[in-house]
Amino acid sequence: MDFKEEVVKLLKFRVKNPQIEIPPIGMGDYAFPCFSLAKELKKSPNEISKDIINKIKPNKYIEKIVSAGPYVNFFINKEILTQDILKKILKEKDKFGSVNEGKNKKIVIDMSSPNIAKPFGIGHLRSTIIGNSLSKIYTKLGYKTIKINYLGDWGTQFGKLIVGYKKWGNASLLKENPIKHLLELYIKANDKEYEPDARDWFKKLEQGDKEALKLWKLFKELSIKEFNKIYKILGIKFEVISGESFYNKKMDETIKKLKNKHLLKESEGALVVNLEDYNLGVCLIQKSDGTTLYATRDITAAIDRNNKYKFNKMLYEVGSEQKLHFQQFFKVLELMGYSWYKDCIHVSHGLYLDKEGKKFATRKGNIVYMEEILKETIDIAKKTIEKKNPKLKNKDEAARKVAIAAIFFGDLKNNRVHDIVFDIEKFIDFEGNTGPYIQYTYARASSILRKAGKKNSFSVKELNEKEILLINKLNIFNEIIISAARQNSPAIIANYTYELAQLFNEFYHSCPVLKSDNEWFRLALVQATRQVIKNGLNLLGIDVLEEM
Ligand code: ARG
Repeated sequence: MDFKEEVVKLLKFRVKNPQIEIPPIGMGDYAFPCFSLAKELKKSPNEISKDIINKIKPNKYIEKIVSAGPYVNFFINKEILTQDILKKILKEKDKFGSVNEGKNKKIVIDMSSPNIAKPFGIGHLRSTIIGNSLSKIYTKLGYKTIKINYLGDWGTQFGKLIVGYKKWGNASLLKENPIKHLLELYIKANDKEYEPDARDWFKKLEQGDKEALKLWKLFKELSIKEFNKIYKILGIKFEVISGESFYNKKMDETIKKLKNKHLLKESEGALVVNLEDYNLGVCLIQKSDGTTLYATRDITAAIDRNNKYKFNKMLYEVGSEQKLHFQQFFKVLELMGYSWYKDCIHVSHGLYLDKEGKKFATRKGNIVYMEEILKETIDIAKKTIEKKNPKLKNKDEAARKVAIAAIFFGDLKNNRVHDIVFDIEKFIDFEGNTGPYIQYTYARASSILRKAGKKNSFSVKELNEKEILLINKLNIFNEIIISAARQNSPAIIANYTYELAQLFNEFYHSCPVLKSDNEWFRLALVQATRQVIKNGLNLLGIDVLEEM
């Protein structure tokens, strides 16, 4: 039963495609704002609202219709809704919330994208968490998503790294802790003194020099191995692992296209696209020594991906500090005549801050070793679990899931464009607006159901206030997912899931379930809520635990 559709039907005599809203609590379940009709009908929205309610009658599904100023408010039959929504959830289970608007459509998500030979940064963590959730949200809506890890594996920094390795490199240190060693080498070689050498080596690399390529490949392999440890803990997989280097051979073609479109200008031996007319400065395409740049590679990659995937949208989940870069190369794509530039979106995010409000860093100087942060978080989770439930089986895996819930939820509950404080103790608290709190609520619901044993069919009697709130919340899950997708905002799902868990706990504290008069109905409600909590968490990349 689609109640919204029912409302639309009632309004058909007046509007073809009415914009239906959700009114504030207590004002009904759906509202139709009459403003849009005022011009055509030459009447005030308030008058129109009154006219409408005189012309339509409540029915089996919509039990009350009232005029409230410029709005028409609709109250749906709660018993029918309840019966309906619970049945639907219990039948569809993990699929509940799915829609197929995205059938045969593809969404490319450029995400994570750490730089090889450098530590996996905290910004890359945000990109990974948010991109992963967006992929799940779009998948739920029926799209095919392609998560691309676009590694930073090309650029002048590799010239520096090769110089550093040739001067001070140590094979056994490299093996032991590749990222640490490479970073040290990079820092040492990142000096004016070695600049000409470094430039030479990068040029050699772009030209396919054997020695340069061999070293670069080694650095890359070792780095990927390290990153994979992190992805394994996070439980994240990619459809494509590619990188800037992949486009090295196609760069000439891009430059040719730009030349043919008369977009390139020479400036002190370098090639640029002048974007000053659009207030976007100049976009550097080729340096005077013939080497290419980040933007050149992104332009090339975008064209290639469009050919390959014919995407409906391509999301770049990248920190907001790169805003200008994306504006520039999207503009270049537009000027090149690619109409699909409009489907490229920079889904930006803010920074992680430490508790003092400064850019996040660890004790070990300015470098964050992600693996250590993750392992520390898992340790904290394990200690809490040991205290709360010493008999729990598979504690290590449980601790990993709780730690991931803490970190993912701690991030995703925030509007992604905001800077957020990375505060593990807060994130992992079992009480409050946290991932573990929601997981705990889920486990509690599971435990009620285990105690109940066999469940039978239920019938819906009069509902109390707590039950109605819960039902209403379950009923909007679909719309929540859709609006999360429209705004590329997992926060909408995170906040919804938290509120659902809260409503469930309030219900559970005030309404007895087992052995109550209403036992079967309430068990169905517990089961349905538990299911939607799970589906909500899964959209964030978080697993549930039956016990914790
Ligand atoms: N590797 C880059 C960095 O760490 C991020 C890449 C983002 N994706 C892109 N297509 N530019 O800053």
